[in-house]
Amino acid sequence: MSTENPGFKWGVSTAALQTEGAFDKDGKGLSVWDEFAKRKRKIGDKSNPSVATDFYNRYPEDIAILNQLKIPNFRFSVSWPRVIPMGTGQSNEKGLDFYDRLTDHLLENNIVPWTTLYHWDLPHELQKRGGWFNRDILNWFGEYVHLVTNRLGDRIKNWMVLNEPMAFTGAGYLLGVHAPGERGIGSFVSAAHHAALATAAGASIIRSNVANAYVGSTFSQSWVEPHSSGIKDQQAAQRVHDMLNLFFILPATGHPYPLKHLKFLNKIEKFIKPGDESKLNANLDFVGVQTYTREVIKYSWTVPFIKASMVSAIKRKQPYTQMGWEVCPESIYHVLKNLQSVPGLPPIIITENGAAFADEINNDGIINDTERIAYLDNHIQQMQRAMKEGVDVRGYFAWSLTDNFEWAEGYRPRFGLVHIDYENNLKRTIKESAKWYAGRIKD
Ligand code: GAL
Repeated sequence: MSTENPGFKWGVSTAALQTEGAFDKDGKGLSVWDEFAKRKRKIGDKSNPSVATDFYNRYPEDIAILNQLKIPNFRFSVSWPRVIPMGTGQSNEKGLDFYDRLTDHLLENNIVPWTTLYHWDLPHELQKRGGWFNRDILNWFGEYVHLVTNRLGDRIKNWMVLNEPMAFTGAGYLLGVHAPGERGIGSFVSAAHHAALATAAGASIIRSNVANAYVGSTFSQSWVEPHSSGIKDQQAAQRVHDMLNLFFILPATGHPYPLKHLKFLNKIEKFIKPGDESKLNANLDFVGVQTYTREVIKYSWTVPFIKASMVSAIKRKQPYTQMGWEVCPESIYHVLKNLQSVPGLPPIIITENGAAFADEINNDGIINDTERIAYLDNHIQQMQRAMKEGVDVRGYFAWSLTDNFEWAEGYRPRFGLVHIDYENNLKRTIKESAKWYAGRIKD
């Protein structure tokens, strides 16, 4: 593969909150997820991210695994409350030191760092001041991006501004199922507009501080299909597609918000200040596409505003993962092909794709996760099919290096290429899928 596409970036992805643990160590401030996990019935297995995989202490071990597998690119995120405990103001030298050590260790091992600035762990102190509702977040975020890029930009060239704005504003500010647990259209549109502005503002700060920066931001994408050919289902699918797939990627690439079929989001206009339209284009070098499944949609008058609901994979008798998500390899092909309709879209990097399965260790200590191997193999093939048809894809990162804290689901879903034994001192075991992936991406 690499010889067919020289320069293609193969890697694995992770995120700070899901792996680092050390939630209050060395002066770290709390994040909205530390607080959210304290609330009743918010995390499926009643766990919390306080320890996670202890990446904060065990990163050398994980980097040794990357080295052993010869995985050349590693995506991680910086925890905002670790480096600015109150979210704004005084920075935390020990927190910054951690990212210095991590970066240096990656580079010493010839592994290229890819860094996300915001993977959902907003400082709790900022949430107390309104978080993403408060337009001041643009100043707070700017201060944070300056700090991190000034500190690491001499060594890190590949940056992503936000991780999946639709996921954190949709789940965290519209549905209330992710931190900080807010609900409602009003809260969603204000958070969404500020996140869209932050994408462009963050990208421009990275460019001003980092010589030869390669700047992107990541977007969740699903292949959305109507449940039937009936007009109501088709229109419902169109609304879901516009919201899930286009709402953030369009403004980031110089287009207006897609409100034509989403009249209920018109309220966003209340938050758009004169001149904002010209501040939304992030001029990205790449878009990070994160894709896992397809969504089959039917019209549903009981669902407020969007009037649409998902028909589950179980109902449709399709194979599914521990998340309940359909295993549908063609979805990545259609996601990529559909993005060709966005004028001026920069090259794409698949910054996340992977699957959670209930892995078992056999008597020989081997984890033969054949379902994950098939998932990755088939998705990579479907990505290559889209590339052959002209979609400009420059890289693929599997989610995730290790099993980790899967947000509101806790530790139950296992997405890792490397197994974590939560009962036994967080012992790492390389799964067969990791060995398969290492072979697949080899020159
Ligand atoms: C993404 C998210 C990751 C990971 C993954 C699997 O939306 O960016 O952090 O949790 O989903 O659910």
